[in-house]
Amino acid sequence: MLGVALFIAFWLILGLGVLSIAMSGGLRGARKSRPSARAGNRAVTALFVVIYAGFGLALPITLLAGNHANASGQFDGVKLTKADNEGRELFGQHCAICHTLAAANAVGKVGPNLDILQPPKSLVLTTIQNGLQIGSGTMPADLVVGKQAEDVADFVSTVAGK
Ligand code: HEC
Repeated sequence: MLGVALFIAFWLILGLGVLSIAMSGGLRGARKSRPSARAGNRAVTALFVVIYAGFGLALPITLLAGNHANASGQFDGVKLTKADNEGRELFGQHCAICHTLAAANAVGKVGPNLDILQPPKSLVLTTIQNGLQIGSGTMPADLVVGKQAEDVADFVSTVAGK
């Protein structure tokens, strides 16, 4: 994120510099009251604004947005739906401290490694609803409920072991 900020700041400063040079040229032209030179300078200013806005801001923003969409749009060749991506967020908030799941960058060690277990959606859902206490640890019930529980279960069963 710092890199992005620096990148934008760089273009901002460069763009403002170019703009101020172009505008000071425009003012000199105005003082000499040569209409054609003034119009020319204004055209140059406009051109710089277009180039600056087009390449300095629009292009990087488009690329960054595109990269982000790609990064969250799929995992290791598995296409993630919108619901899956919400499940991924929720998993990070509610499950990652206890479970390992590569697709969510989760490395928790309290509960079983879900990449190894590869639970079907129904098992994830009932476990979320009922909680679990059989082995050494305890998993609380209802960490997420309703649609959110569905999304998490969908996400886990889609990506586990991938
Ligand atoms: C506080 C730690 C903790 C949290 C948070 C947690 N779990 Fe668990 N989970 C466990 C433990 C411990 C077990 C195994 C229980 C046992 O074997 O006694 C488990 C087991 C499971 C199982 C396997 C069930 C089975 O029958 O084998 C699934 C699936 C699961 N958790 C999914 C999730 C999901 C999804 C979330 C987030 C909504 C979550 N867990 C949050 C600790 C946790």
